[in-house]
Amino acid sequence: MEQFNRIISRENTGAVKLEFREKLFGSNEILPMWVADMDLAAPNAVQEAIQKRAEHNLYGYTMHNPDLIEAIKNWIRNRHEYTINTELLSFSPGVIPSLHALVQAFTNERDQIVIQPPVYPPFYSVVRNHNRTLIENELIIDEGKYKINFEQLEQQFKNGAKAFILCSPHNPVGRVWTKEELKKIADLCIEYNVFLFSDEIHADIAFDHNKHIPSASISREIEQLTFTLMAPSKTFNIAGLQGSYVISPNEYLKEVLNKQLMKQGIMMLNTFAYVAMQASYESGAQWLEELNILIKKNADFVIERLHTSNTGIRVFQPEGTYLLWLDFRSTDLSHEEIKNLLQTKAKVGLNDGQSFGETSGNLFMRMNIASPPSIVQEGVERIIHTFTKNNNME
Ligand SMILES: Cc1ncc(COP(=O)(O)O)c(C=O)c1O
Repeated sequence: MEQFNRIISRENTGAVKLEFREKLFGSNEILPMWVADMDLAAPNAVQEAIQKRAEHNLYGYTMHNPDLIEAIKNWIRNRHEYTINTELLSFSPGVIPSLHALVQAFTNERDQIVIQPPVYPPFYSVVRNHNRTLIENELIIDEGKYKINFEQLEQQFKNGAKAFILCSPHNPVGRVWTKEELKKIADLCIEYNVFLFSDEIHADIAFDHNKHIPSASISREIEQLTFTLMAPSKTFNIAGLQGSYVISPNEYLKEVLNKQLMKQGIMMLNTFAYVAMQASYESGAQWLEELNILIKKNADFVIERLHTSNTGIRVFQPEGTYLLWLDFRSTDLSHEEIKNLLQTKAKVGLNDGQSFGETSGNLFMRMNIASPPSIVQEGVERIIHTFTKNNNME
């Protein structure tokens, strides 16, 4: 745990989280709690593997090796109790590039594709950029918890949806979908023959009894419709190295996907992405256990502090991810007022809720808590100080 208490300066590293502050929040004085990477060092084993590879100063085109394939297989089996067919793996620099490829390879212009707002903003562009029709199956809040509107989802599938992009676990609301929910999704996809593009990039970060279940592991039938998108990038804070993979349903569909990835020129990773992926999966399990403890502690702290404050801000209990979905609906402020106070008074940089869904994200903000506890505490105290009722009119 000690390792996660250390504040590491990210100045002069080109970190997006810092560099874009002026543009997004109007000032470089902002405490950055937005873009989804961590202010925490990757496992030592990852750094050592990269250093070792860097010593060999020939950095030409690189392939994955059999040990990496084995490491991916073992990781998913040990952590998620799912045995993949390694013949069905494809690599790509990112989950979002893979989603672009899937949309192009398996749907046509104007085809309907379902997403579930509030959701990770690139899901919108992944559909719209290719002139597909965006269908929104908005999540519903029921007894303080986000749930899936299955009735509407079935109707949307009935109306001819071709694909469903599932965010599992869900960014930003922090749900880790249960077996029952995944089974219902699977049943509907099978009944209406809808492809399931299952973005499981946050799979490894889940707390308490919440356990991530790969969508494709639900049944052999749903496996035949599911493309699973995974990566060690969120888990081990190596997103800048750009490495991810897709598990296709079968050989034929994998070939179709590979052709598309090739068309986009993104089938091969950079030398260090393979190295980091292998090292993190082979040696990162203990580090991840500790990370999950830290994230849970940070989440509990934020929730407790905000819920006992007089700000009216509430937080949805996360089941996974290192992202908190902050609910400002009881602050009696408008979305613009909230944004303005966060930027100019609290000086905390959160992701704008509306970027996840114009209506579903109205009066919400997303907070990244993958930082040393002292940073998270600082951010929360600034917010409480600013939003405590009767304080914010000063
Ligand atoms: C749900 C989800 N998918 C994909 C990504 C980005 O993936 P990549 O960097 O591999 O494209 C993120 C990053 O925050 C995410 O939260």
